[in-house]
Amino acid sequence: MEFVGQHILSVDQFDRADIERIFEIADRMRPYAERRRITRVLEGAILGNMFFEPSTRTRISFGCAFNLLGGEVRETTEIKASSLSKGESLYDTARVLSGYSDVIVMRHPAPGSVAEFAAASRVPVVNGGDGPNEHPSQALLDLYTIRRELAARERTVDGMTIALIGDLRYGRAVHSLVKLIGLFQGVTFRLVSPSELALPSEYLQALARAGHRAEATDRLEDGLRGADILYVTRTQEERFPTQDEADRYRGLFRINQDIYTSYCAPSTVIMHPLPRDSRSEARELDDDLNSNPNLAIFRQTDNGVLVRMALFALLLDVADKVDDQAREVPWFTGGREAG
Ligand code: NCD
Repeated sequence: MEFVGQHILSVDQFDRADIERIFEIADRMRPYAERRRITRVLEGAILGNMFFEPSTRTRISFGCAFNLLGGEVRETTEIKASSLSKGESLYDTARVLSGYSDVIVMRHPAPGSVAEFAAASRVPVVNGGDGPNEHPSQALLDLYTIRRELAARERTVDGMTIALIGDLRYGRAVHSLVKLIGLFQGVTFRLVSPSELALPSEYLQALARAGHRAEATDRLEDGLRGADILYVTRTQEERFPTQDEADRYRGLFRINQDIYTSYCAPSTVIMHPLPRDSRSEARELDDDLNSNPNLAIFRQTDNGVLVRMALFALLLDVADKVDDQAREVPWFTGGREAG
């Protein structure tokens, strides 16, 4: 695809060549993200970071990515703190905010809302999550991480086995990731969820059309055996009609070091889009895995900055100018361990 000036709303926009291009630029961002070099290539540019749903890493990492390229960030973090709560339409909000920004990232609870906003925006809009629908930048950073982790184990995305565990019905990170991995060849998907939280059929059909295997189960052990990647998710309780319903599923699948040792191959990679629910009644990914070197969750979050920098560089057409006038950082940057 042509990236310059475009919106990023869905992973459906990408083909494999686009993914390669994004990842190649993400690799080039590493010295900047790791605070070894400084670039000011987006000096003077403004990111409108509009988050109308809770977020920690997506909001901050988009903001950091823009700052690391030299740009400034303006943000709103709640519907009630914005004029949407006074009845303003997405159309009007988009017309206004796009006059103040060079690019906008938006998260909103309604599926399709970011596309509606983008249609009225005068600048590129990136979908930071629209309800249970999609989360394209998360899928890109997940795939980038999967590829690196597998390469270190002499494996590839083509032909891998990935277990997707938890709330596959409402999890937008899962939805976008499934479609993105679908662009590769011969992948086996283990879909571990209670039947009520199964992956919606449209995603299953797309996988079947692309020649992948998808095996659904509600038994965690069956999902874990032989998997290269575990992608664990939180019950998306905010999407359930009632809290009681959400409570029914909390803590259904819990992975801890004992279970990992019993059922997983020793180099199985453990991933999670985060936040993991660490309350005692949930614990889908136990803290006792924190010292397991295959726990890649903080490598995922670190990689998110690289991938988001790459997206901004492509959309604003500075990918080949990032290194111009770059310099070494003058401050102390030691003591930073890899994620
Ligand atoms: C995910 C999201 O918001 O969809 N989080 C994230 O962006 N990393 C997953 C979640 O909230 O469970």
